[in-house]
Amino acid sequence: MNGKHKITNSAVLVTGGAGFIGSNLCELLLKQDNKVICLDNFSTGFRENINDFLSHSNFSLIEGDIRDYQTCQRAIDQVDFVLHQAALGSVPRSINDPMTTTEVNISGFVNMLHAACEAEVKRFVYASSSSVYGDSNDLPKLENKIGNPLSPYAVSKLTNEIFAKNFSELYGIETIGLRYFNVYGQRQNPNGPYAALIPNFILKLYNHQQPVINGDGTYSRDFTFIENVLQANQLAALTPRNQIAGEKQFLAEVFNIACGGSTTVNEILKSLYKECIKYDSNIESIKPIYGKVRKGDVPHSQADVMKAEKLLGFNPEYDIDTGVEKTCQWYWGRLTNK
Ligand SMILES: NC(=O)c1ccc[n+]([C@@H]2O[C@H](COP(=O)([O-])OP(=O)(O)OC[C@H]3O[C@@H](n4cnc5c(N)ncnc54)[C@H](O)[C@@H]3O)[C@@H](O)[C@H]2O)c1
Repeated sequence: MNGKHKITNSAVLVTGGAGFIGSNLCELLLKQDNKVICLDNFSTGFRENINDFLSHSNFSLIEGDIRDYQTCQRAIDQVDFVLHQAALGSVPRSINDPMTTTEVNISGFVNMLHAACEAEVKRFVYASSSSVYGDSNDLPKLENKIGNPLSPYAVSKLTNEIFAKNFSELYGIETIGLRYFNVYGQRQNPNGPYAALIPNFILKLYNHQQPVINGDGTYSRDFTFIENVLQANQLAALTPRNQIAGEKQFLAEVFNIACGGSTTVNEILKSLYKECIKYDSNIESIKPIYGKVRKGDVPHSQADVMKAEKLLGFNPEYDIDTGVEKTCQWYWGRLTNK
């Protein structure tokens, strides 16, 4: 990645900084000599994810909730960029508890956005999601062709995009929404009912338990390695306004962030077996269990990443093979040393 698109010597607020994506952002930003403020309430994130940063003189942790406006104001003081990751993820979680998802993902989002306007930050970059494509059957997904959202989670992310555009128009704040597609990599939580597929399958294989596939495994996803997401966040923060928005009066754009690939659940499981067998040959005999399709899951999801490539210079450098190899290696090391 081009050096001029690395965030350096800036003050950056990472909300959800103790989570999977947020902690990877914090780590990178610290390495690049930034002052990093992490705002997190540890509802789905972990202290363990940020333990190594706590002693760093450029790192500060604000343990607090984005649903509290004063906390948002305190965290954003003197900040150049906001990388807003804090939210309650997972489609099934949002179906089981739509109220809390709405409070955090919508009210919390508006709090952060409003605080960012007041603080006059240079840019507000936020995590949107491929779930906004909802019931649209078009493939690959293009930013301007969305369907009806299929879960409260998807509604919340779509609402974020609408608010961001509205605030840009009204108050002039520059906003960029990144529609992440199935991100995976180090520090993603493998445990619990809402765990993402890749870390969950790795943990199952490590423990010699059968991975459970929802459906027949033919559903496909555009799995995206964390490094590609780190690149996207930096490009979103730093790409000059006119390169993205041209002559438009305000900057409020959304971009697909993915690899533009399509991998079925059966295929990803096969790759995970291939990698994990390198560490433990007994894994070969473990067979997956096929269960019911989950409510709210879309059959296929694949991004067109042309818009991000063209306007941001996004170049997803890590393909699925490299990403899976690095991810398995990381989990194996971590699980073995526990
Ligand atoms: N991981 C993916 O595949 C993926 C895909 C699409 C979108 N996203 C979005 O990316 C963002 C980061 O996701 P992630 O996978 O790192 O999830 P994560 O659960 O690991 O991280 C979210 C973090 O936000 C924090 N948080 C939640 N509610 C909060 C609140 N009220 N106040 C302060 N902090 C709060 C959590 O404690 C956690 O540390 C989320 O907005 C998510 O919706 C993720």
